[in-house]
Amino acid sequence: MTAVKSIAVLTSGGDSQGMNAAVRSVVRSALYHGLEVYGVQRGYQGLLNNDLRPMDLRSVGDIIQRGGTILQTARCKEFLTPEGQQRGADILRERGVDGLVVIGGDGSYQGANKLSKLGIKTMGLPGTIDNDIPFTDYTIGFDTAVSIVVDAINKLRDTMTSHERSSVVEVMGRHCGDIALYAGLASGAETILVPEVPFDLDLVARRMQENFLSGKRHSIILVAEGVGSGEDIAQGITQRNGIEPRVTVLGHIQRGGSPTHNDRILASQLGDFAVRKLMEGDSGKACGIINNELVVTDIDKVVHTKKPFNMDMYNLASRLSL
Ligand code: ADP
Ligand code: F6P
Repeated sequence: MTAVKSIAVLTSGGDSQGMNAAVRSVVRSALYHGLEVYGVQRGYQGLLNNDLRPMDLRSVGDIIQRGGTILQTARCKEFLTPEGQQRGADILRERGVDGLVVIGGDGSYQGANKLSKLGIKTMGLPGTIDNDIPFTDYTIGFDTAVSIVVDAINKLRDTMTSHERSSVVEVMGRHCGDIALYAGLASGAETILVPEVPFDLDLVARRMQENFLSGKRHSIILVAEGVGSGEDIAQGITQRNGIEPRVTVLGHIQRGGSPTHNDRILASQLGDFAVRKLMEGDSGKACGIINNELVVTDIDKVVHTKKPFNMDMYNLASRLSL
């Protein structure tokens, strides 16, 4: 017995590596269980355009290794309105779809929550590089984004060390410093600046100067974009200690490329889990992984909770960067 016979899947908001692996998992798992499955093109915009296409086994072939999303993604203003949301729910009903899997970040989850309140059975999958979704240890794409940042810092270290220079690296993360935190710890950054932790630029500049005097041949300052621009931080440092750090803004490079095996595995597990939960009659939930266990949490609770910042990890990075 299954609570749903026909489901749809969409990707929405900022894309992330592993979204394709998640779409593949949803589609193949649904077909395996004998459900009908539609792919919605361009997120909520595509839903409002009634752009739902039937998916078969081959339609998700050769995508597990690809970044981006074959379903495309979009930001849709009309869906922010109650009228838009009602129209979206009506279209799903007219098309005979009784379950929807939304792969996206916080904004996309808010949309899924609205559809759920309008009676559509929804499941959210955390698809964002930012790792800013609560009730999951990791989001799909985060691991790949961190790897990209670490790889870039490895390269920067080579040239910075040769020239005995310092480097300011600006990474993504408007409200969440996890990319900076994890990449900073993994690459031995001297300073990590994140929106969650107040900082004193005088101290940062003094520490940098002292470290150079005590024999360090390079220094890396990692800045999450939510703190301010890397350029401004670099200028502030120069004003304080005369050192002129070179600035690198990694930008959208962090959102592209082939997903790591961790992201592919997480996406594959969560996609299948979402389908099974819908079949069991669960809805209005967000899927996640906590301590290696797949979990569901009320999506309403998820969108009203801020993910706690890992201060232990932050302090560890700081202790190890002496
Ligand atoms: P992300 O999912 O990556 O956080 P956005 O914040 O851009 O990306 O959200 C993606 C889309 O989700 C928006 O363009 C909009 O269509 C929909 N959305 C965002 N917030 C809401 C909301 N409060 N209510 C309904 N839909 C929303
Ligand atoms: O939501 C993920 C994210 O990558 C943020 O870290 C970043 O600020 C934002 O998207 C930029 O997205 P876009 O350029 O697509 O608006």
